[in-house]
Amino acid sequence: MDKFSDKIIDWYEANKRILPWRETSDPYLIWISEIILQQTRVAQGYDYFLRFVERFPTVKSLAEADEDEVLKYWQGLGYYSRARNLHAAAKSIKGDFPDTYSDILALKGVGEYTAAAICSFAYNLPYAVVDGNVYRVLSRYLGIQTPIDSTEGKKLFASLAGELLDKSKPGIYNQAIMDFGALQCTPASPGCLSCPLADSCLALKDNLVNILPVKQNK
Ligand code: ADE
Repeated sequence: MDKFSDKIIDWYEANKRILPWRETSDPYLIWISEIILQQTRVAQGYDYFLRFVERFPTVKSLAEADEDEVLKYWQGLGYYSRARNLHAAAKSIKGDFPDTYSDILALKGVGEYTAAAICSFAYNLPYAVVDGNVYRVLSRYLGIQTPIDSTEGKKLFASLAGELLDKSKPGIYNQAIMDFGALQCTPASPGCLSCPLADSCLALKDNLVNILPVKQNK
């Protein structure tokens, strides 16, 4: 039987969304896309991403721009500290975009999720992304009722995500589990009837799909 990551990747190859930041391994473009997508849906972020990187195609072009102009390209997206942090981080990068997890994590506005996304998508480094999609997929597949917003839950899910990560294809695997959560294992009305993981999904077996993931602070 295929392992979890093989099934997720097979599903992704058949169902993936074609998105501009997936057609590149340029860490700068991936960084911009991930900052936009932190608080913005793909459908809304799509055009902003294209306009932003057309005007600021490199980290140098962003660093050299006036903050007013950077903010202009962010107009309508909200959470403007994202744009200010992007600009400040671009100015802090001397030379090439950083290529280690710790240097990327040190950029203003970059947290663990974003650092793992950039490392895996741009450099194929084995860091697992843990976002809302990943919490949902893993808590359901493994039938875990530990609250995802508890200290224990955060540790547990980070460790499970690392174990399940396909270390030979971390970039594809991370994109795959995010799309799987966004399109198949959705918060409401997930597609369990057509799910390639249904055979071994503990939430489905124990009728817990609708209560997982558990949050202690709702
Ligand atoms: N949301 C956050 N990052 C994403 C990505 N790389 N692709 C699709 N949705 C995302």
